[in-house]
Amino acid sequence: MDEKMTRILCIASAKGGVGKTTFVANLASALARAGKSVIAVDANLTTSNLGMHLGIPMYPTTLQDVLKGRARVKDALYYHPAGFRVLPADISLKKLMLPRSSELMDVFYKISGNADFILIDTAAGLGKEAQSAIEAADEVITVTNPELPAMTDALKVIRIADKYETKHLGVIVNRVRHERGEPGLDEIESFLDAPVLGHVHEDNNVRASIRQKNPVVLHRPNSAASRQFRQIAAKLMGEEASAADVSILQRLFGWLG
Ligand SMILES: Nc1ncnc2c1ncn2[C@@H]1O[C@H](COP(=O)(O)OP(=O)(O)OP(=O)(O)O)[C@@H](O)[C@H]1O
Ligand SMILES: [Mg+2]
Repeated sequence: MDEKMTRILCIASAKGGVGKTTFVANLASALARAGKSVIAVDANLTTSNLGMHLGIPMYPTTLQDVLKGRARVKDALYYHPAGFRVLPADISLKKLMLPRSSELMDVFYKISGNADFILIDTAAGLGKEAQSAIEAADEVITVTNPELPAMTDALKVIRIADKYETKHLGVIVNRVRHERGEPGLDEIESFLDAPVLGHVHEDNNVRASIRQKNPVVLHRPNSAASRQFRQIAAKLMGEEASAADVSILQRLFGWLG
């Protein structure tokens, strides 16, 4: 049987707290709902909290155990009730470590072919931890807020993606309020010279869902933020479909030629 083409997507930001983990939890849930096979990886090993967003803060076997050679990767994969798998990180300080990109790549390689999407949550900043994840992934999405400090930091992520030749897919603008003076999506696109893949409004339902430890697309599926997370998921799947169409055409022309 043919192995699946897996997209290994890193979600990054240089500024902390912009909404990376919220995005990973909701994108994983939305893609799974749409029938995709997804693995969410918590590669934020220093300030890990994907497990908390997903309602499972403590896992017995984690990415750190795999990286230290103490466990097999299949023993650190867990099924979430929302229909995707999670490769969690340990939240205890005792297991603090900074992996090399080659070590992460090795783990991603072992789980790829097994999923349509591997979504990697990363640490904020441009330290070794974040850079390893960006280098190890095939594609990067940058999360930012519509504020100059976050946008300036987003530029740095885009440069780092270029440095490692990881394809920068575009930007998610989170916590949009449409306040006076707030930069618009077109201004953000031209400031960053990168496409905005989607935006998510400031929405109290997001905070309420995090308190409930349940992604907002599941907790409040009709909220503005949930609709916007689903739109972004659809866009990512659409790109996947169009990439597949191109390869079918190329094959057809190759065959005719
Ligand atoms: N669209 C939104 N509307 C309202 N609040 C939001 C939204 N997105 C995120 N938040 C708030 O921002 C907080 C930080 O989000 P999150 O943990 O996803 O950021 P992060 O980029 O992963 O942070 P870190 O850099 O620390 O890993 C959330 O706990 C939530 O309270
Ligand atoms: Mg986070």
